[in-house]
Amino acid sequence: MLRLARFLLIPLCLFGGALLTASLLSRPASTPAVLAGFAERPLVIAHRGGRGLWPENTLFAFQRASALGVDLLEMDVHRSRDGHLVVIHDRRVNRTTNGQGRVSDLDLAQLQALDAGYHWSPDGGQSFPYRGQGLRIPTLEEVLKATGPIAKVIEIKVPDAGLERQLCQVLQAQGQMQRVIVGSFYESSLQQFRELCPQVATSAGPGSVKLLVALDWLGLSRLLSPSYQALQIPERHGDMAVASTGLIAHARERGLHVQLWTVNEQADMRRLLDRGAQALITDYPDRALQLLGRHTALARQDD
Ligand code: G3P
Ligand code: CA
Repeated sequence: MLRLARFLLIPLCLFGGALLTASLLSRPASTPAVLAGFAERPLVIAHRGGRGLWPENTLFAFQRASALGVDLLEMDVHRSRDGHLVVIHDRRVNRTTNGQGRVSDLDLAQLQALDAGYHWSPDGGQSFPYRGQGLRIPTLEEVLKATGPIAKVIEIKVPDAGLERQLCQVLQAQGQMQRVIVGSFYESSLQQFRELCPQVATSAGPGSVKLLVALDWLGLSRLLSPSYQALQIPERHGDMAVASTGLIAHARERGLHVQLWTVNEQADMRRLLDRGAQALITDYPDRALQLLGRHTALARQDD
């Protein structure tokens, strides 16, 4: 028995020592410039420009959301056949425009000839108020120029060789490196982007989120030294609760800015803010602003 205890003691001591060393060496993330200017108040992020209010990922949406008073604009980036970064969510143009086909199979001129307001309806398909109004798929450059200094979340939608470098170059050319958070569901894209563009803040990829959840579950989140500054997570993933009060608190302790997607009902917004969420990524930024007691351009119109 004594021999067994001695046999176990050495590995246990080594393991404990390794954990202690890792804990002492771990470093929390520091606040990136894009978030440093905000006070501690919860932030409102217009998901795809506020897709519940107007056609998603259009210049119109981003300009209206900015005028509404949101803190950040969220958008998705693909690359056209002729190599332009374009702002659209899906791999195909079918759902949001009057065209068909893959974004990567179409040149910019073909993409921009499409009507990006064609399918948007406020009443379940009875009316289409933005058809024929000149809304089109913008380039990222056009969005950055048209929206100026407002902070942005830019999501790399497809792992596309060279896109990460091009994104970094566009952000640099437009003077927006300190104004954006770059995210992706592709860990490899994020790693590449961080290497090419270390000045730009990023959010956790799916692998990093899983690691954080696992460490938190084991009570070891203090070991985490994040290579990212924002944590963009849903409340649940299938049956699994992701954004628990504990996870949010521990992520914040590691210096992360915790942003919840996609939260559209005010009751859900309230619950997640009460759990410690620092930003709401929402299709209805007007609802979030109203909940937070912030006047909006829409509310003023109704007054
Ligand atoms: O921030 C993450 C969120 O944008 C993911 O949702 O709209 O790109 O499918 P989506
Ligand atoms: Ca997105």
